[in-house]
Amino acid sequence: MASNMLLAGVLALCFSVALASIVPVQDFCVGDPKGQASVNGLACKDPKLVTPDDFFFSGLDIPGNTSNPFGSKVTSFNAIQIPGLNSLGLSMVRLDLAPYGFNAPHTHPRASEILTVLEGTIEVGFVTGYPDLRHFKKVLNKGDIFIFPFGLIHYQKNVGKGNAVAIAALNSQNAGMIPLAATMYQSQPDICDEIVARSFQLDQGFVKNIQAKQ
Ligand SMILES: *[C@@H]1O[C@H](CO)[C@@H](O)[C@H](O)[C@H]1NC(C)=O
Repeated sequence: MASNMLLAGVLALCFSVALASIVPVQDFCVGDPKGQASVNGLACKDPKLVTPDDFFFSGLDIPGNTSNPFGSKVTSFNAIQIPGLNSLGLSMVRLDLAPYGFNAPHTHPRASEILTVLEGTIEVGFVTGYPDLRHFKKVLNKGDIFIFPFGLIHYQKNVGKGNAVAIAALNSQNAGMIPLAATMYQSQPDICDEIVARSFQLDQGFVKNIQAKQ
C-alpha cells in the first residue's frame, strides 16, 4: 500500500515537472533573434517593444514552388518567421504537392503533427518503431485529418489528379526535420558508403554514385 502511494507520488511529481516545462510562466516571450542570452529557444524581446506584428504572419495562402524532383514544397511558419511563437511549443507548415509529388519519409525530432487536407487527395503514412515496424496508412480528402505521432517516420504523397494542399500544426516552435534518404546520401562528410549500402541492402557502387551526385 505504502509503495503504491509512493509510486503515485513519484508519478504525480513527474507529471507536474513535465507540465511545468511546457506551461509558460509569463504572458509571452517574443523571440529576439539578436538576444545574447543562451536559453532553450530565443531570448525574450523587451515586452514594452512587442507589437501585434510579432504575433502575425501573412502568406499561408501563397502556394509553395513544387518545381523540384519531389514535386513538393513544405513552407514553415515557426518561431523564426513568427517571433511570438517563441516558448509556446507551437508551429505550422503548409504542404504543396504537385500531381505525383511526394514529401519523402522524414521525422520531426521534437514534435507530433496534426495535418488537414485543404485541397486534393493525399496518401499519408507512418511507421512505428522497431521491432514492430507497423505501417499505418490512409488516403485523405479535403477536410480529413491525420496524426503523425511524436518522432515517427512518415510521408505524404499526392494520389489525386490535380494539385494537393495541406496544412499541419506541430507541438514545437522548432519541430526540426530529419529526412531519411538525404541523411544517408547528403551528410557532410559522407556516411561511409559501405554502411549505407549494407543497411539498405544496396550495391556499394550504386551508393557511392548517389553520394557523389549530391
Ligand atoms: C520554381 O523553382 C524553379 C526551380 O528552382 C525555378 O526555376 C522557378 O523559377 C521557380 N518558380 C517561381 C514562380 O518562383
